[in-house]
Amino acid sequence: MNIDLRSDTITKPSKGMLDAMMQAQVGDDVFREDPTMNELEVRVATMFGKEQALFFPSGTMANQTALKLHTNPGDQVICDKYAHIYNYESGGASFNSGVSCKLLDGNQGMFKAAQVLEAINPDAYYYSKTSLVEIENTTNKGGGACWDFSEIKKIRKVCDDNNLGLHLDGARLWNALVASNETAKQYGEMFDTISVCLSKGLGCPIGSLLIGDEAIMKNAIRIRKIFGGNMRQVGYLAAAGLYALDNNIERLAEDHKKAKEIGVELRKLSMVKIVEPIETNIVIFELNKGENENNFVQKLADKNIKIIGMGGGKLRMVTHLDYTDTMHQKLIAVLRSF
Ligand SMILES: Cc1ncc(COP(=O)(O)O)c(C=O)c1O
Repeated sequence: MNIDLRSDTITKPSKGMLDAMMQAQVGDDVFREDPTMNELEVRVATMFGKEQALFFPSGTMANQTALKLHTNPGDQVICDKYAHIYNYESGGASFNSGVSCKLLDGNQGMFKAAQVLEAINPDAYYYSKTSLVEIENTTNKGGGACWDFSEIKKIRKVCDDNNLGLHLDGARLWNALVASNETAKQYGEMFDTISVCLSKGLGCPIGSLLIGDEAIMKNAIRIRKIFGGNMRQVGYLAAAGLYALDNNIERLAEDHKKAKEIGVELRKLSMVKIVEPIETNIVIFELNKGENENNFVQKLADKNIKIIGMGGGKLRMVTHLDYTDTMHQKLIAVLRSF
């Protein structure tokens, strides 16, 4: 039995999902004539109480499009030092949109409204213009942490008072919704644009959506085209997305439970210095000084269990749809044997 806990993106479509894909009605989406894609986009926009949603091949492209929609070259975006848009999108913010990022020193990838206020540049010609605040929920590098919704409301107020856009990288927002009992509509009310992913946690092979009202979204399809992201018979992918929305959201609670159980076992190990708080499906932990991370990864690999190092002495495990109860029992037993 091989166990892969490197990421929740390693899942393969289930039989149910593949059947749904095979039965999809399709058309040319560049002509906006793919009925299944049209259905998915309307469904996701409605879920969030927004006017439009647009499908993207990746979360990166959806985020990069959002940056482009909200900014002009030379502008500045306020985000956390752990933000995916800053760390893991290949410098796209500067390459695609010509913007810089003002990094906030948050906690587990989350910051406070007061920090945002302080980071806004004065309105003088020699400063770059602050035009956007970006939040990630759940935070990836922050260990799947969920934002306090009341802080988001405060940040919305700062954005309103200072004429700033507010974008949510909600690649794993589904996990946050399940963990917190908040609703997609509440998030729709707070943000100007939201990106969500279908290929993390929800088990789809491909797919993200950017969501917003018409005024901001009207140029999104043009930017998607410029980025090379307009596709043809995408209904096969939309069918996977519709299947995932129907079948794979509530079950994320199981991934969260397993992640917490892994955390309990890791905390018992003498070589583990700290396990970061676990709220959703990501477990980040650090080994004691003198312990070698690569050895730990190898010890698990010897038992056919894959995890990854994140650098800086941190290791990561992510639970997901294809991580079964049997695999979980095996991992727990292996950890107990260490
Ligand atoms: C928080 C977050 N945002 C965006 C992305 C980008 O998604 P993709 O890999 O589909 O480009 C990821 C990918 O892991 C992510 O974790």
